Amino acid sequence: MTDQRTKLRDNLMQALPEINLIRKDDLREKVIEGWMFSLQQNGLEHIDQLPPQAAPEHPPFKPGKGTQSGHFRGVGHIAQGIADGLEKIHPEVKIDRDLLWACALCHDLGKPYEMGAANQARWKADDATSGDPAIRHPAYGVYVALTVGLPEAVAHSAGYHSGEGELVLRSLIATIVHYADDSYWHCVERAGLLSGTIFGRKRH
Ligand SMILES: [Fe+2]
Repeated sequence: MTDQRTKLRDNLMQALPEINLIRKDDLREKVIEGWMFSLQQNGLEHIDQLPPQAAPEHPPFKPGKGTQSGHFRGVGHIAQGIADGLEKIHPEVKIDRDLLWACALCHDLGKPYEMGAANQARWKADDATSGDPAIRHPAYGVYVALTVGLPEAVAHSAGYHSGEGELVLRSLIATIVHYADDSYWHCVERAGLLSGTIFGRKRH
């Protein structure tokens, strides 16, 4: 492994320690590969070089109050809480926790592309030519997930956790991730951690 890849991997494992909750070796390695690919393709060395906000048009965290890696971890823990609650009352519902963590940690795999400063400037300069954004993070997330060989279920969660999910029937895990993501942003906003309101903003 090159020094650059070793550094990228170390940064990633430090930023998202919950990756180690994924017990299946192959799935865990693919999650790592997915994030390394997305960061590397977009010239980033660390997830927290991404601005700490739900989407480019959303308000960021107040200084020191939150990070993008914290968001991914928070969504994973909220998703786990939803799964625990469901299984407690409905024991016949079985949720694959390895897959749940992989889907939660990878739901925003596409953010390095959508949130890249150069892409944002390029799209805003001529939106009639490119569209703005030309490609949202869910679509880019599907590209990354399938490129590195992550399971279709992870690509599905990345692609349909947000507004795009209104066009399909989401899987159970993608449904959990969708609500975990939505809950996370609405709760941190009501907790006073964001620099503005997300009321009425549907896409993140
Ligand atoms: Fe998210």
